[in-house]
Amino acid sequence: MARLISSIKFTSFIYVFLLSLCPLCSLKKGYAVEANEHIKKHVLTLEVNSLLASDSCDQSSKGSLCVSVIDKASSLQVLHKYGPCMQVLNDRSHVEFLRQDQLRVDSIQARLSKNSGHGTFEEMATKIPAQSGIALGTGNYVVTVGLGTPKESFTLEFDTASGITWTQCQPCLGSCYPQKEQKFDPTKSTSYNNVSCFSASCNLLPASERGCFASSLTCTYQIVYGDQSFSEGFFASETLTISSSDVITNFLFGCGQNNDGLFGQAAGLLGLSPSSESLTSQTAEKYQKQFSYCLPSSPSSTGYLNFGGKVSQTAGFTPLSPDFSSFYGIDIVGICVGGSQLPIDPSIFTTSGAIIDSGTVITRLPPTAYKALKEAFDGKMSNYPKTNGDELLDTCYDFSNYATVSFPGVSVSFKGGVEVDIDASGILYPVDGVKMVCLAFAANKDDSEFGIFGNHQQKTYEVIYDGANGMLGFASGGCS
Ligand SMILES: *[C@@H]1O[C@H](CO)[C@@H](O)[C@H](O)[C@H]1NC(C)=O
Repeated sequence: MARLISSIKFTSFIYVFLLSLCPLCSLKKGYAVEANEHIKKHVLTLEVNSLLASDSCDQSSKGSLCVSVIDKASSLQVLHKYGPCMQVLNDRSHVEFLRQDQLRVDSIQARLSKNSGHGTFEEMATKIPAQSGIALGTGNYVVTVGLGTPKESFTLEFDTASGITWTQCQPCLGSCYPQKEQKFDPTKSTSYNNVSCFSASCNLLPASERGCFASSLTCTYQIVYGDQSFSEGFFASETLTISSSDVITNFLFGCGQNNDGLFGQAAGLLGLSPSSESLTSQTAEKYQKQFSYCLPSSPSSTGYLNFGGKVSQTAGFTPLSPDFSSFYGIDIVGICVGGSQLPIDPSIFTTSGAIIDSGTVITRLPPTAYKALKEAFDGKMSNYPKTNGDELLDTCYDFSNYATVSFPGVSVSFKGGVEVDIDASGILYPVDGVKMVCLAFAANKDDSEFGIFGNHQQKTYEVIYDGANGMLGFASGGCS
């Protein structure tokens, strides 16, 4: 036994040694980089002001592009929940926004943890310590879909870590929050149907989220995203319209009569996880569990969410790990900073595994990996004054006196030889204007927690979820 352990350690040592000698990062991968881009960008330069979101919405280029490029498949325009395109003023600070991001991560870690399993409604509600006024931020990116007959438009947060799709419904029986559109009224739709408690449809819901309205034996759902963020109501079937050519009849969704949380002005949530009640699973025959999105480089521009098979030729694919039933599992194998592979023992990543999430903002890494990243990054930023960080982000700089800033490129490698060069917009995060701009990665509490590849780092890539073939793809220049 002792010999086995030491030989494993020895192999890892050799592997780390080889990696640092022959960095993955400097090899031309051909994946996730433009075909003609031979020289990788080891140093990136940005105008400091471009780190801050603009106040005006630029739908011109990217908005129209999603229609022209993705002509056959069904495509929805993606907006940031608090971006100017939603015409919602974000009155919350980035500090608060990042605190919510941590609450989401705590909830994901609790769901992933083998010991806690998938608790009941009450257990879930108490698992995350309540913090008044701060609910779990879910989503961050929204799309607008049609629901009912005649069709009404609703703006929903899309979320690859959530199963059920729900929208606020009339009548509101508990609490309801203000939303952009009128609340969905099932009595005005000819295609709305309640679902019986004893139907197979009702059983699509996980037992912890499923209930039965005793007097009419109507299926109900209750979902809690964190401390105070929840939705409950009837689980019903309805016509969902993605585009004029993509109409999904008998789509099962939650008609929420008691909802609360910081959902911005969104009417609810569009669940894209691999769970059986998700849109992805319910439309498996039509779209083969395939969808892709591009998250724009800034909240003032737009991206897209696209359903069905249209696979980019330039994408690099990594296998989706089958270990997670309600998340998309992936394997991170390495990180490069400024073109050099960090000396991280690969077992640091494999011990816990990782997921990709459209709703978590900041990528979470095992502390050992984060420490290596932070030190390498900071080592190349000695020209800039350092500043204190935030609770979550701790490698921060004061760019007040600079018009442009140069910083090392960061890339993340995944199993299968896919290397994703994080877009310049996804490496730094302005926590407090240009006075406190931080490296946009964070450490988990310990190496046993799961890594999460967050949406800030996914920006500008077409991220392709191919559930049928168990693959996840990244193609650069996805939004433009
Ligand atoms: C759905 O069930 C609820 C509870 O029984 C009921 O109030 C509502 O009218 C039903 N809606 C339809 C369209 O059957």
